[in-house]
Amino acid sequence: MKCVGIETSCDETSVSVVEDGRVVLSNIVSSQIDIHKKFGGVVPEIASRHHVSNIAYVVDDALNTANISFDDIDYIGVTCGPGLVGALLVGISYAKSLAYSLNKEIVPVHHIEGHIAANYISNPDLKPPFMALVVSGGHSHIVHVKDYTKFEIIGKTRDDAVGEAFDKVARTLNLGYPGGPLVSEEADKGQALYSLPKTKFDNYDFSFSGIKTAVINLVNKEKENINIQNLCASFENAVCEILVENTIRAMQDYNIGTVVLAGGVSANKKLRKLIEIESKRNGYTAYMPELKYCTDNAAMIASAAYFNYINERRYNIKERLDLNAYPSFKLGEKM
Ligand code: KG4
Ligand code: ZN
Repeated sequence: MKCVGIETSCDETSVSVVEDGRVVLSNIVSSQIDIHKKFGGVVPEIASRHHVSNIAYVVDDALNTANISFDDIDYIGVTCGPGLVGALLVGISYAKSLAYSLNKEIVPVHHIEGHIAANYISNPDLKPPFMALVVSGGHSHIVHVKDYTKFEIIGKTRDDAVGEAFDKVARTLNLGYPGGPLVSEEADKGQALYSLPKTKFDNYDFSFSGIKTAVINLVNKEKENINIQNLCASFENAVCEILVENTIRAMQDYNIGTVVLAGGVSANKKLRKLIEIESKRNGYTAYMPELKYCTDNAAMIASAAYFNYINERRYNIKERLDLNAYPSFKLGEKM
């Protein structure tokens, strides 16, 4: 079964063809990073406009690369939330028109479910149950993945998402956008010599605003004496330790021996290494997506769509003409 996945929740226009949830025939990502860079972050209105001008080309490219025609499409999966509403609406409108004209079923996909599903592509033997550490620009969650379409969020950030904290630190240090990879690049050249606060709670929640503010205060205090590489290393280290400590504790308490990383920040080398070391120490197995499936892409959406499709979480488009963007779409909810 071939699924066309469509992802437009933020600043990447992406379309993919995936067979049975795990085999990627094409995955085209048209990034708008260069456009938003000069504003220091994503400008929603500009993102929506670029999705409108890009989407038809990206669909053509995805079908051509997969060497299939519109007639070969079995169903369509599309991100319906969470995300920027105007941006989501472009992908959803395109997906609805496509489903209508081809008379194919449509699967509304939760963006985070997509990030988790990226692991099914990169790790063909991976099956639920497992614990997922979901770390992106908008989310920081520990999710108990009970089955392919059954999720329980057991911990989440009480303020900033971890990717957001990376981006703000990068902005404070004038490193550029998106900040995560740039902070990480500096961190590789430094040592974690600055002491930064690590907020802990009794449950599995996170807080990253304290550490982000501590970085800003240090920069304001030390001015040109600040060692950017050491500060980035200290920030990255502390954040990765908090993320991994909470996740391992959740695994111990829930008696779950498999963990996966998901979301843009799962591309972080330090985080990948630390989760591997700590998993091994506890006798657990860690999985992560290949780097190309960490940040936003449509292959992960088509993969998540497959598991929803086989679990009857799909619609005849003529019965779901009202399908819309759902900015507060809950993980595991049937839209
Ligand atoms: O999942 P994603 O592409 O978009 C959202 O759903 O938010 O994640 C983007 C986030 C950005 O905040 C970016 O700075 C961060 O992922 N990121 C990283 C790395 N690569 C991307 N953060 C730390 N280290 C990286 N290597
Ligand atoms: Zn994302």
